[in-house]
Amino acid sequence: MSYDFLIEKAKEAREKAYVKYSNFKVGAALLGKSGKIYTGCNIENASYGATICAERTAFTKAISEGEKEFEAIAIVSSSDDITYPCGICRQFMSEFGLDLKLIFTDGHKIVIYKLSDLLPYAFTEFEAIKEV
Ligand code: THU
Repeated sequence: MSYDFLIEKAKEAREKAYVKYSNFKVGAALLGKSGKIYTGCNIENASYGATICAERTAFTKAISEGEKEFEAIAIVSSSDDITYPCGICRQFMSEFGLDLKLIFTDGHKIVIYKLSDLLPYAFTEFEAIKEV
């Protein structure tokens, strides 16, 4: 399946980024199993730690609208290179399935990973309740 359409949505979302402090724009487009797309951008804050990344913006929009299962998320930034999600976003996304496909582009090629590739040995609810 070609995810070009999802990358285009992520690029559109990137334009909405509120990046007063870093000037580093990130856009994400999350494809739910329902077929609906939820976009997100990074939203910074004067208290830097209150900043939310584009990926989590997209996920919070989707979950709060009732979407529960996801196929893929495209992530683009204002950098020429691929921007991989931060650790907090990897953990946040893992809550909703490690089979999620992550779609990146450097402007030339498209690269696809599974979340489990980027977050091996993930801490999940199942792990939390597993007996030792
Ligand atoms: N950022 C994202 O939105 N997603 C990532 O995966 C990496 C980092 C944002 C957070 C902050 O607004 C800016 O990029 C610089 O760290």
